[in-house]
Amino acid sequence: MAKNTNADTVPRPDRGVVVWFTGLSGAGKTTIATALGAELLASGRRVEVLDGDVVRTHLSKGLGFTREDRDINVARIAFVAHLLARNGVVVLVAAVSPYRATREAARATIGDFVEVHVAPPLDACVARDPKGLYKKALAGEIPHFTGVSDPYEPPEGAELTLDTSAFDVTTGVQRVLAKLVELGFVERVPARPPSLA
Ligand code: ADX
Repeated sequence: MAKNTNADTVPRPDRGVVVWFTGLSGAGKTTIATALGAELLASGRRVEVLDGDVVRTHLSKGLGFTREDRDINVARIAFVAHLLARNGVVVLVAAVSPYRATREAARATIGDFVEVHVAPPLDACVARDPKGLYKKALAGEIPHFTGVSDPYEPPEGAELTLDTSAFDVTTGVQRVLAKLVELGFVERVPARPPSLA
């Protein structure tokens, strides 16, 4: 791939980054990514959300949930995320991405990578069950369901871990923003616009 030299000259406030939300289905990855995206957009940043569920309806249509298919899905997401981030976009990835080695490969490719483990207890995800999938998985109707009949390998070096069962979405978003400021990817925690207050 041709090296994009723009990335080296972009001023710091426009520095792209991939914020990679990993965790069980129903953990709150998409909710936090979407709310964070709205805040960053309102503050003038360019933002894109790459959500596993959505990517699977387009770029990864037809893929299933074997390890091989998940790895292909995650590698595709990482590829697109990298292209965007090196052009100054804040890319918010929300994907179960259950395998540590695959996430580490994404980190190595992308470089500017912030891993956020969205980690409520499994029980909380089962209780929420926003899509009714845990009910089916526990009844044996969905094979290879992450956390029930398929593995989830928690990160060992995540920049942030969020137990979304312990606080609300706003608090989760603020924690991610604070981490992005600390790491130099965002200038300051944006003031909340009235529309999001
Ligand atoms: S990943 O493992 O390849 O990263 P991805 O995030 O794209 O997964 O998709 C996960 C979503 O697919 C879940 O939130 C859930 O809605 C749905 N899904 C359907 N079957 C499964 C399964 N066997 N395991 C996990 N999620 C599943």
